[in-house]
Amino acid sequence: MRSAIFRRLPIWDPDGAFRRRWDVFVLFLAVAAATIAPVAVAFQIRATGLYLVLDIVITLVFSADIFVALRTAYTEDSRWVKDPRRIARRYVRGWFWPDAVTAFPFFLLPAGRVATLARLVRVARLARIAKTATGMRSIHRVRNRSTNPYVIRFVLLVFWLLLTAHFIACGFIVVGGVPYDLSPSMRYLQAFYWTVTTLATVGYGDITPDTGNPIQLAFTVIAQFAGVAMYGFVIGNISNLIAHIDLAKTQHRDKMERINAFLKHRRISDSLTRRINEYYAYLWETRRGYDESTVIADLPHGLREHVVLELNRDVIRKVPIFHGAESAFIREVSMNLVPAVYTPGDYVVRAGEIGEEMFFISRGSVDVVSQDESTVYATLTDGQFFGEIALLSSTPRTATIKAREYCDLYSLHRTAFERVLSRYPTFADQVKELAEQRRRETEAASRR
Ligand code: CMP
Repeated sequence: MRSAIFRRLPIWDPDGAFRRRWDVFVLFLAVAAATIAPVAVAFQIRATGLYLVLDIVITLVFSADIFVALRTAYTEDSRWVKDPRRIARRYVRGWFWPDAVTAFPFFLLPAGRVATLARLVRVARLARIAKTATGMRSIHRVRNRSTNPYVIRFVLLVFWLLLTAHFIACGFIVVGGVPYDLSPSMRYLQAFYWTVTTLATVGYGDITPDTGNPIQLAFTVIAQFAGVAMYGFVIGNISNLIAHIDLAKTQHRDKMERINAFLKHRRISDSLTRRINEYYAYLWETRRGYDESTVIADLPHGLREHVVLELNRDVIRKVPIFHGAESAFIREVSMNLVPAVYTPGDYVVRAGEIGEEMFFISRGSVDVVSQDESTVYATLTDGQFFGEIALLSSTPRTATIKAREYCDLYSLHRTAFERVLSRYPTFADQVKELAEQRRRETEAASRR
């Protein structure tokens, strides 16, 4: 009868909403159980009243969790395994035994209080989240929500530190390190204070063990050893974590320090140094200091195509002549666009030069000026393009293009341009028409 009900239970998706909520709930109870267990031992709380209710709830939930685990699918070689027998076999080989121990109804035992300490094992679920297959997906899930994994590690480190300190503080109470005549909260506070000063290797010495009591002395020595070990571990980990929490920023800062040291060493002028710094500040603001081409260079062809399409989506959306174009055309253009940043006052093209590429403006504005820069023919901005005349008619550049501000441009090389032009006549017609119109305008303006 019971197995019939069990068989009718659904097989849960390890990433599904139910399993996720359930995991959080069990984790919450596990943390509560691990926190309460040493307190119950330290203050010899009897298994009655609220404590008993809580103990029963914890036992029931932990038992239910074993059933949930037995009905949760897992993946093997990228395939779902939903067969309950295989799930059970895998579970028994893994976390079943620790889970079963922690689900034991400890309140039935005479020395149940001490045995509940075993529930600490449940908190190892936290570690499990980072390690098991389901956990890997949980981490991905967290990553997808753009939570920095180093922030999670940092939070976990602080949590373990606090829990360890809590255990040692309760242990200090058990060995009689704090006076019995104080209130329970005061005793705990004093013990916790002693633990933190001992673990942090500060040791003010205002609360000390009774040197005539061997158990207290031995406990203190162990806590001191733990303190020394933890101190090094924590300092190393925290500095490493802080450096990694914003790895991109740390790397950017290092790079800037190196560049500035070099500029100073080579006595580059202050104004140029400032411009270089401003340029890197712009790179940081617009692309977190990453160079798109190096990031995508490592990717396999298929993935690179997807990434490039997404990266260039913005500029494609901004350029009116691309609107409504067929996707093959967009892909062809996208794959051949090369990003480039220009700083205010930079020359993008100079009149009279041979041109090998045309440009699309993703962000910023440029002036189209005559060779001697006395006449401004036009100002082009987001979504507009230039440099097409030299490619279309194989003539030198008809005007000079100067960046007015920081500009994110995308260049399209002549070979790709010609290929696109021959395949997509509508695009060719539009570009030619605009080029002709511009040429006429420029000629009229220079005649004036
Ligand atoms: P190209 O001659 O290759 O290089 C300079 C570019 O400036 C030119 O292509 C056009 O894209 C652009 N250009 C020239 N004249 C004008 C104009 N009157 N208005 C806008 N853009 C122009």
